[in-house]
Amino acid sequence: MNKHYVIIGGSSGIGFKTAELLQLQGHQISIFSRNNTIPTGTNHFTLNVLDETIDVPFDQPVDGLIYCPGSINLKPFSSLKLKDFEQDYAINVLGGVKTIKAFLPLLKKSASASIVLFSTVAVQTGLPYHTSISAAKGAVEGLTRSLAAEFAPKIRVNCIAPSLVETPLAGRLLSNERQQESAKERHPLKAFGQPEDIAEMAAFLISEKAKWTTGQIFHIDGGLSSLKV
Ligand SMILES: NC(=O)c1ccc[n+]([C@@H]2O[C@H](COP(=O)([O-])OP(=O)(O)OC[C@H]3O[C@@H](n4cnc5c(N)ncnc54)[C@H](OP(=O)(O)O)[C@@H]3O)[C@@H](O)[C@H]2O)c1
Repeated sequence: MNKHYVIIGGSSGIGFKTAELLQLQGHQISIFSRNNTIPTGTNHFTLNVLDETIDVPFDQPVDGLIYCPGSINLKPFSSLKLKDFEQDYAINVLGGVKTIKAFLPLLKKSASASIVLFSTVAVQTGLPYHTSISAAKGAVEGLTRSLAAEFAPKIRVNCIAPSLVETPLAGRLLSNERQQESAKERHPLKAFGQPEDIAEMAAFLISEKAKWTTGQIFHIDGGLSSLKV
């Protein structure tokens, strides 16, 4: 059956690929972002999640909410200012909290609603220069489990923790051949991720195919968090 899915940050990277995939499956997709570069056949609404309030421009039920905005701010701990931690928390955690609050009444109108959030491999596995992003995404993982408990059985909540994926957000980390080769070498599967590797999991989790899955963190990371080869 066709569903109505809301994707915050469907104009780029993983969110764009997820929107494309779900649209091809015949679902109605409402994308919220600052830019309107969206897949054909999806609808766009302008939103900056850092703004004070979020006005939802429709009142039809929402069957799934995917929150994609995030950051990669990698610096030694001694170079990170308190402001860096606040900014990473604002976009990764508070933006998600604000959008879930804004769309909750419409999610509650659906018979089978679900939410998908994004963490990072750097929460499960300690990596140098990741203190700010791992602190913020650690909060996202806590939010995932707590919300899943609070919203059960009505709304499922899951989270995907990727390693390095080739998107505009990760552009600076994959900008030359040397960086790309070293990124491939770091992963047991000898590759960095592509947006579709993550989008397939997001599309599954948001759908009714995942109807018995909630409160989980899925490590889609080329084996980085769990294998030593
Ligand atoms: N790529 C990686 O290597 C990687 C690794 C680990 C985790 N992740 C996580 O995966 C998620 C998706 O990452 P990605 O690589 O696909 O990022 P991306 O290519 O930068 O896409 C992010 C999306 O969020 C939107 N967005 C950003 N700031 C926004 C704001 N203030 N208001 C509204 N929309 C905003 C962007 O649209 P506009 O610019 O049009 O607003 C864009 O559509 C993030 O949470 C990220 O932390 C990514």
